[in-house]
Amino acid sequence: MNSLGNLRAGAAVVAATALTSAAFVVPASAADQAAAGQRADAHRAAPLVIGHRGAPGYRPEHTLASYRLAIEKGADYIEPDLVSTKDHVLVARHENEISGTTDVADHPEFADRKTTKTIDGKQVTGWFTEDFTLAELKTLRAKERLPQVRPDNTKYDGKFQVPTFEQVLDLAAKESRRRGRPIGVYPETKHPSYFDSIGLSLEEPLVAALRRHHLDRPHAPVFIQSFETRNLQELNREVSVPLVQLIDSSGAPYDLASAGDKRTYADLTTPAGLRYVASYADAVGPSKDLVLPRDDQGRTGKPSDLVHDAHAEGLDVHIWTLRAENQFMATNFRIGDDPNAHGDMAAETKAFLDAGVDGMFSDFPDLAVQARDEWLRDRAERAS
Ligand code: G3P
Ligand code: CA
Repeated sequence: MNSLGNLRAGAAVVAATALTSAAFVVPASAADQAAAGQRADAHRAAPLVIGHRGAPGYRPEHTLASYRLAIEKGADYIEPDLVSTKDHVLVARHENEISGTTDVADHPEFADRKTTKTIDGKQVTGWFTEDFTLAELKTLRAKERLPQVRPDNTKYDGKFQVPTFEQVLDLAAKESRRRGRPIGVYPETKHPSYFDSIGLSLEEPLVAALRRHHLDRPHAPVFIQSFETRNLQELNREVSVPLVQLIDSSGAPYDLASAGDKRTYADLTTPAGLRYVASYADAVGPSKDLVLPRDDQGRTGKPSDLVHDAHAEGLDVHIWTLRAENQFMATNFRIGDDPNAHGDMAAETKAFLDAGVDGMFSDFPDLAVQARDEWLRDRAERAS
């Protein structure tokens, strides 16, 4: 068993304990707390804009073209979701099933790879990255996930490859040098328990890639995120970069549910839950509806206590996902009735900044950066 495997076994014991148990709470080290404090101060001065899957409002998601455009449009970080190939190379895809975002179904040579698997307890039919070598995957081309919503992007279908994590890190390094500003990378481990179960663990190649790029250090422009808990606990023992516990608006982390642990995402948002998260992570990444809940008319109003309670535990808060189209917004930010028309994303962004968030994932990083910068200017004027 490798070092991360050993850590995984230990973390499983911790995760099996009840959330409310005192034994469950592992205090963060003083160094961790100091680093988290410095990061929080910096981010609260200028909340981050994270190019969610690059800039998929304008280009097919998780392509180098999408990441490059996110950087051009001012994103502070670019976000690759990570899955593994058959030969254990990390590539940027939101799911390991790739028929929704590549042309794999149009490749007769891969027709017999179509299959049905159980991923995180759900049956999924299609083509899976773990059944393709990197060389095979590189023969595919990306396509727009939401052609009905973002028809303009379909003109890029067939143009771009599936990038490796290594290529994303290279792009960020090159663009950082060229632009004289750090371009951060915000990788997410997708289905980490599943990939462990098939012998293609995500954490080892992730850590190795960060180290190759000299990015495994406390103030490197990197956050690692996961919807599961145990792999973050392992990574907390292995790397120096900040970790982000993603929190969905319903359900439970798959690693907990599959181990018979009854804790849900909602449990992680209580003060006790956040204290637990702070024992291994540096930030939470909640669905935006957990920060500005919608009423029965679909309107946002008063913020929940989540930002306040997370900050009280030293955790930053990075919400997802700001998208310009009406259908993805609360009703009070929509303009007109067309679900695919753009609403007032500037107003939405500023509402989340007023609620105190420290970072925002956006499919339209240009709009988020513009709104964030206006909000900062207004705040500075009010303070002077
Ligand atoms: O990682 C933040 C956000 O991206 C989580 O949702 O499903 O888009 O990866 P998802
Ligand atoms: Ca993600």
